[in-house]
Amino acid sequence: MRSLTHGYAWPTAIHAPGCGVGCGTLGRLRDNRRVTPPTSPISTQASAALFERARTVTPGGVNSPVRAFTAVGGTPRFISSASGAWLTDVDGNDYVDLICSWGPMLLGHAHPDIQAAVAGAVARGTSYGTPTEPEVELAEEIVARTPVEQVRFVSSGTEATMSALRLARGFTGRDLVVKFSGCYHGHVDALLAAAGSGVATLAVPGTSGVPASAAGETIVLPYNDREAVEAVFATHGPRIACLITEATPGNMGIVPPVPGFNAFLAETCRAHGSLFISDEVMTGFRATAEGGWGLDGAIEGWVPDLMTFGKVMGGGFPAAAFGGRTDVMAHLAPEGSVYQAGTLSGNPVATTAGLATLRLATPEVYAGLDETATTIRNAVSETLRAASVPHVIQQAGTMFSVFFREDPVRDFAEASQQNTAAFAAYFHSMLDQGVYLPPSAYESWFVSAAHDDRAISTVLDALPAAAVAAASVGDL
Ligand SMILES: Cc1ncc(COP(=O)(O)O)c(C=O)c1O
Repeated sequence: MRSLTHGYAWPTAIHAPGCGVGCGTLGRLRDNRRVTPPTSPISTQASAALFERARTVTPGGVNSPVRAFTAVGGTPRFISSASGAWLTDVDGNDYVDLICSWGPMLLGHAHPDIQAAVAGAVARGTSYGTPTEPEVELAEEIVARTPVEQVRFVSSGTEATMSALRLARGFTGRDLVVKFSGCYHGHVDALLAAAGSGVATLAVPGTSGVPASAAGETIVLPYNDREAVEAVFATHGPRIACLITEATPGNMGIVPPVPGFNAFLAETCRAHGSLFISDEVMTGFRATAEGGWGLDGAIEGWVPDLMTFGKVMGGGFPAAAFGGRTDVMAHLAPEGSVYQAGTLSGNPVATTAGLATLRLATPEVYAGLDETATTIRNAVSETLRAASVPHVIQQAGTMFSVFFREDPVRDFAEASQQNTAAFAAYFHSMLDQGVYLPPSAYESWFVSAAHDDRAISTVLDALPAAAVAAASVGDL
């Protein structure tokens, strides 16, 4: 693997002899085709029964679409408990968890210190609707670890990006938003817009239920495309409130910014009086101690105007935040005219869990995560190569993902050109061997500080058979 700048890594293309080729918004929506998997050798009766009940009372049986296994087929496992690196389902099967709740569980499940902190908070009452000390402490911790000067807490990443957009619009007095195809920023109307055709095309809704008026204020560009950004700012610059991007996209699989791309975005926004919003809901306190920003901004010396956070900073509870420059944040109510509020915002249990998590996330923890991710990444690559399966692995700090295709992925169009059937076979083989991967080819894999030798060996032992399963699917 060839490393590029500061912990990002673009893969060297792996051409397997005799082979052909391999929750971003579009990826998630593409997952709508239900796939029939091979019959599982392990018992999943209890999960299947719960799934049946769930489908009666909940659309699709799940409360977030990608959990439904639609892209890989089969029965989603209903988890009844988790400890360290392991999940246990209602049938009693154990799995090494490589989802980690889609990012938050940086330290693993049921960490004793976090449990103790949470139990203490619960004993003092679960919500007051007043300011509390843990909110101040968590805000101080985030301000200390990132370039933001102030933060406002909310309850989900979606709420964070939605609020950041409103603030950017209120601050600039402009309406247009620029985003990149394949970047997922939660299910905010304006940010679900799919790619339009051509550089300056105003987007059409990418999902039903989004008014054309909301989508029409969003310009969608291909990721890593400087010319497209330059062209759209040249045409629409005075009307652009903000450009939002994932610090390093993780929702179409990991697609690192080409060197200097984020710095270029920050500079372009500054030159046009637009705000640069870096969405770190997934990467924040996860890709590195300083999030995705630690991979380039901290080294190159640029700072986003606004940032959004979630996942790790909530320690497994619903907590998220947006923050930035004091002069921008001052536009929020009650100081300013941009209204934003929440009954459970800064909830004392959630902020206590988040604070305990961040305080335990030491440099040694990040070094260990790096080591675990590297071990798994290398073994995945070796075993796929041995089975002649075309693949590329892309990385951003401790996060990585596997694309079942030959060439590196620089944008969503390329991410879409992968062998998702091979991924589905790979996924089920791993699951049957006790390893729970994200059930979509468009997602990052997540490790935790609790992934010890036993958990890592379980993953490594499962890889050769999974590679053979992927190979059996054949070319794209
Ligand atoms: C980069 C990014 N932004 C925003 C969100 C939305 O966060 P939530 O699911 O907490 O609403 C996600 C969720 O995966 C995300 O990855």
